[in-house]
Amino acid sequence: MRPVPGRPDGRVVPERSRVVVLVSGGGSNLAALLAAHVEPGYGARVVGVVSDRPDAGGLAVARDAGVATAVVAPGDFADRPAWDAALAQAVGVFEPAWVVSAGFMRILGQAFLDRFGGRVLNTHPALLPAFPGAHGVRDALAHGVKVTGCTVHVVDAGVDTGPIVAQRAVEVLDGDDEAALHERIKSVERALLVDVVGRAARGGLTLDGRHVRLA
Ligand code: GAR
Repeated sequence: MRPVPGRPDGRVVPERSRVVVLVSGGGSNLAALLAAHVEPGYGARVVGVVSDRPDAGGLAVARDAGVATAVVAPGDFADRPAWDAALAQAVGVFEPAWVVSAGFMRILGQAFLDRFGGRVLNTHPALLPAFPGAHGVRDALAHGVKVTGCTVHVVDAGVDTGPIVAQRAVEVLDGDDEAALHERIKSVERALLVDVVGRAARGGLTLDGRHVRLA
């Protein structure tokens, strides 16, 4: 808790956890976090948005909300470790308590995880450990599953292999194509991500091997 500088009533409010969001795409999950972070009791504040793509729609979403952005494009670096180190540096500038990968379509490397490991959450549009990777919705449809969903997990060095924080199921309907199913997943996913990030920010999370407990 800290006094709010300049508040004439000297009111004391809880310090909000600083969050950096990583995006590669349109940023609807980011938009949901930005809608939540204006609520005084939410506990998390998005202080920066970082992308690997200068054309990511999520960057405009951030700018419209008055949130600082940065782009760290792999093509500007000699190799993957150099890009990963630069990404860690760009995120570190914002001094985040939590990093949220929300539609960030790249694997975070060792330098990044050495710095932020255990404090990086990723949202994925499938019920992990089923259908990891870049095409979780397409792969679930192709497999013929009747139920899929979304997962928020702690990021480790693998591809969507980290400890699972929370999941929600979404039914696959007859006639679903990838776009229709992904839209239904995303509406559930946004609510789940907002809930998890807020709870992690307010109370932290406890990791016991693969088992995660939110306060
Ligand atoms: C989300 O469904 C997210 O789970 C997915 O990309 C979408 C981004 O949507 N991420 C992955 O597939 C990562 N493997 P958004 O840009 O509208 O938030």
